[in-house]
Parts: sequence; C-alpha cells; structure tokens
Amino acid sequence: MSKIFVDACLGKETPYTPVWMMRQAGRYLPEYMEVRAQAGNFLNLCHDPKKACEVTLQPVDIVGVDAAILFSDILVIPDEMGMDLEFIKGFGPKFNDPIKTNADIDRLIGGEEAASKLTYVYETIELIKKELADDKALIGFTGAPWTLATYMIEGEGTKTYNICKKMMYSNPALLHKILAKVTEVVKFYMEKQIQAGIDVVQIFDSWAAAIEPSKYDEFSWKYMVEIADYLKAKYPHIPIIMFPKGIPAFLDKVYGNFEVFGVDWSTPMALAKEKLGDKYVLQGNMEPCRLYSKEMTTECVESLQKTMGTKRHIFNLGHGILPDVPVENAIHFVKECQRVSKK
Ligand code: CP3
Repeated sequence: MSKIFVDACLGKETPYTPVWMMRQAGRYLPEYMEVRAQAGNFLNLCHDPKKACEVTLQPVDIVGVDAAILFSDILVIPDEMGMDLEFIKGFGPKFNDPIKTNADIDRLIGGEEAASKLTYVYETIELIKKELADDKALIGFTGAPWTLATYMIEGEGTKTYNICKKMMYSNPALLHKILAKVTEVVKFYMEKQIQAGIDVVQIFDSWAAAIEPSKYDEFSWKYMVEIADYLKAKYPHIPIIMFPKGIPAFLDKVYGNFEVFGVDWSTPMALAKEKLGDKYVLQGNMEPCRLYSKEMTTECVESLQKTMGTKRHIFNLGHGILPDVPVENAIHFVKECQRVSKK
C-alpha cells in the first residue's frame, strides 16, 4: 500500500497534504505521561522498545497524524559513544564529562561499534513496523553532527554556545575532529535504522542558528550533506528531510541530495518556496504557539495552504509542540491541514 507521507516526500500527487508534528510523542499527551511514569524516567522509556513503540504510536491513534516519528532522543548517540547521558528533572540533558581535548575525542567509541550499541532503537523500530498501519510512514531521525556536538562540548543546553564557539574560532581542527567522528557514527546509525524498517530519515539541526551564515556550511551543513550522500548511495528510495532551524540567511546556499527541506517558523514559507520550492519538497511551518488558539491555528493552516497549493508540501509545525498545548487543539491542527488540502 502506498503511504501518503512517503509519496508527498517524493513530490508525488497525494489525496491531501499529509501532516505530522515535531515532538508529537510527548508530554502534552496524558497517555505519554502515564507510560513515562511506568518507565520511571525519560531515558528508561527510550531504552524500553515495548514502551517506546507504544508512545510512538500514540499520536497516530490519538491525534491522527499521517506519519509516526520514532520515539527516542538525539542524545542517545553521544551516550553510546561513551559520554554517559543524564536527564535532570527541570533542567534537561547533562553530560558530566564534556569534550575538551584530542584525547577526550580519541576515548569515544566511534563508527559502527558505537552504532551497534543502539540495539534498543532498532528493536523499537521493528516493533513499530509490526503495529503501524500500512498507509502510515515511520520517520527515523538523528541530530545533525553540529547540534550533537554542542551538547558534547558544552555538557548541557546553552544559550550562548560560547565553549563551542571558542573552539570554532580558536581551534577549528578540534571541532572538525569531533564533527567527523560523530558523522561516521550517524552514517552507520541511520543505515541501521533503515535496515530495521524506517521509511523516511529526518536530520535535526536544531541549533543551526548559533552559527554565523558564512560558517554554516563548514561546521554543519557539509556534514549533513555527507550523511545524506552516504545514505542516498545505498538507499536511494528512502527520502531524507533536512531540518536546520533558523537559517533564513543561508537559504540561497542550500544544496545537496535530499528530498525535503524542513522550514522553521521564523522563515516565511513564501520565501522558502521562492528560493527552494523547485528543488525540494517543503515541510512546515506553523509557529508552534499558535496551537494555543484554534482560531489562530486555522488562520495559519489556510494561509500555508494558499502559499503552497496541494503539491510539494508537508504540513508540520516550525519546531516542536510544547507540553502545555491542549490535545484537542493538536487534533484540530491535524484535521484542518487534512481538510483544507483535500482534493
Ligand atoms: O518528535 C518526537 O515526538 C520524537 C521524539 C523526540 C524527542 N526528542 C523526545 C523527547 C525527538 C525527535 C527528539 C529530538 C531532540 N532531542 C532534539 C532535536 C529536535 C528539537 O526539538 O529541536 C533535541 C535538541 C533534543 C535534546 C533534548 N531532549 C532536550 C534539550 C530535552 C529536554 C528539553 C525538554 O523538552 O524537556 C530532551 C528531552 C525530550 N526528548 C523529551 C521528549 C519527549 C521530554 C522528556 C520528558 O518526557 O521529560
């Protein structure tokens, strides 16, 4: 059976424009909170294929999205490279021993060996594929090497990125060494996700905007393209979505062999269409906080529909859904996307 989401990624005609939401499996769903409580904490949930499968399917069943996204986190990669990830309640992710030197990088597990340790992710994918309806797609994902490196170097989330940027401008070779090592792991990791059964790949470069435009290719985009090239050479039928958040100034320079460009909410969709619409299918990009108002949601969905028409577009938010959004508003968003684009 054909999957509307995969068809849309490939630029084919679909009966309506498909929709999913970044962070759709998460804390706004009471059903998610229940399973997370059973698991004890967020990382246990990521490590438990049965429970991770269950929460992956929740937004498909409850909210009606056209694609599921694997429930996991981008930071399981550095964790399995040997960095010992913790999620601290009310604070976020934390690595106690951030990378500072060449020797720190050399100590990390690399390549296929690190990717082979993420067995719980591949098992989760196999379980999801057994349970997911044939007409729905499963999205697998990774963080971009740059976004992963920001956590590996800073040890936690940051507003200023000053430790990474000090390395970027005073010791770029060291930063490139980290990025190259992460890139190798990500290639094998995504390959193994594909072998386990994912239908589409998304690469999240959530902290793209931290890099000045003239340095963005060197420190992030070229590594994302390297991953896409590697996967395209081996798995040409698997669509790839690139999501660099907050880089409207880089749109003119976007290049590479992938199908879908994820547009964040700060970039006008009409601008993205003008610059990239001929080359890539565009995904996005409602400002997630519009979900607090059904009226503002409908207004945005109708406007996106007007801009994009009924081809070469996938509805999504312009970043992740927030934990205090009412579930009924998320359902409203999904229904409105499917309604306005129905042929
Ligand atoms: O999108 C989905 O529904 C799939 C699951 C998913 C999660 N994280 C689950 C999660 C995905 C795709 C991610 C990616 C991720 N993780 C990114 C890139 C995407 C983005 O939002 O830009 C980043 C930067 C991370 C790192 C991360 N994970 C942070 C900074 C945090 C803490 C902040 C927060 O929102 O609490 C997480 C935790 C996290 N990842 C949660 C979920 C559902 C919340 C954990 C909980 O249940 O307490």
